Amino acid sequence: MSETFKGNFTQQEPIPETAIEAAVAVMRSGRLHRYNTAPGEESQVALLEREFADWSGAKYCLAVASGGYALATALRAVGVKPGDRVLTNAFTLAPVPGAIASVGAVPIFVGVTESLVIDLEDLAAKAGQSDVLMLSHMRGHLADMDALMALAEAHGLTVIEDCAHTMGARWNGVLSGRSGHIGCYSTQTYKHMNSGEGGLLITDDEDIAARAVMLSGSYMLYGRHLAAPGPEVFERVKYDTPNVSGRMDNLRAAILRPQLADLDARCARWNERYRVVEDGLRDTPGLTIVERPEAEDYVMSSFQFLLLDWDGAKITEVVSRCAGKGVELKWFGAAEPVGFTSRYDSWRYAPSAPMPASDRVLRGILDLRLPLTFSLDDCAQIARIIRAEVSAVHQSG
Ligand SMILES: Cc1ncc(COP(=O)(O)O)c(C=O)c1O
Repeated sequence: MSETFKGNFTQQEPIPETAIEAAVAVMRSGRLHRYNTAPGEESQVALLEREFADWSGAKYCLAVASGGYALATALRAVGVKPGDRVLTNAFTLAPVPGAIASVGAVPIFVGVTESLVIDLEDLAAKAGQSDVLMLSHMRGHLADMDALMALAEAHGLTVIEDCAHTMGARWNGVLSGRSGHIGCYSTQTYKHMNSGEGGLLITDDEDIAARAVMLSGSYMLYGRHLAAPGPEVFERVKYDTPNVSGRMDNLRAAILRPQLADLDARCARWNERYRVVEDGLRDTPGLTIVERPEAEDYVMSSFQFLLLDWDGAKITEVVSRCAGKGVELKWFGAAEPVGFTSRYDSWRYAPSAPMPASDRVLRGILDLRLPLTFSLDDCAQIARIIRAEVSAVHQSG
């Protein structure tokens, strides 16, 4: 078989026409800054915050400039100080340890299991080293959130959830971002909603919410928020919380609001694509599918599989043979990070001890994006190509 895939793995769908119209209206108004409102007007950002709070069931929501900014704001808002240690995943993306480093804190990396989630045994072993866990649901894989939250409670850990890849996912019916004290989301182009750059932070804690609003740069105009606590809460924090500007603007919020209204339908389309690839790859010799627990309702805009215990040269061969057939695979085990970095030992500013069990998993992870511009037939073709190339290299011994 020698078919070649012609699609583009980084091509997202266009912004919906309703969102384009809303963006044009904002530009016509000239009022792009979130606090630049006409008398009686509710800004696009404030409306987005209220709608996202409603969608998530959180009491409070703040829209900001990026997912990474939301994470750093969460750390500041819970009181993380320079020199503090923060537990986080050994398998995540660079903005997560980057957010920890940006507040002068030190990441303590917790291992990854073959299910691509945080290793709860390793977490239990390390929990005493910190008061805060920045939990990254990397590539959309949810840990057992009931067990994790029980462990966090037992150790008095504040949990900040990085939901950059799990907007809309659920564990036992609980929305990702709603188990921890804070949920942080990204609306950067490759995420479930696309405003180029952007982030959202949700919480039920009024002090955390008020500090986050102050941190984002509210110029004492917090009264114009529609998903923030009352003025009495701001009275407690407003003179002690620095302004670290990172607001969202009305243009991005205008683009996001129609996407939020359509989010559930989009998530269902992503999952259809995921399942087609999963079906196509199942039972490929040498390839391990990441089986999804029944308690998890995932929202997958990418696909991961494992070539566990494969020789590095063989994995490189699979990657290059697939690339030759138009299928872009990212390999987390490559000696040098390509495109983005996602492994604890790539972040040399943060000290780490080797984690052999996690290294074995990381060396075997392959990853591909599944943008909604791919049809279900495209996904079936991608799976056929991967299956053929993995099988060919596997058989070659
Ligand atoms: C796992 C993870 N967390 C956080 C972020 C940060 O999001 P942003 O790019 O909006 O700063 C990303 C972005 O790619 C991510 O992949």
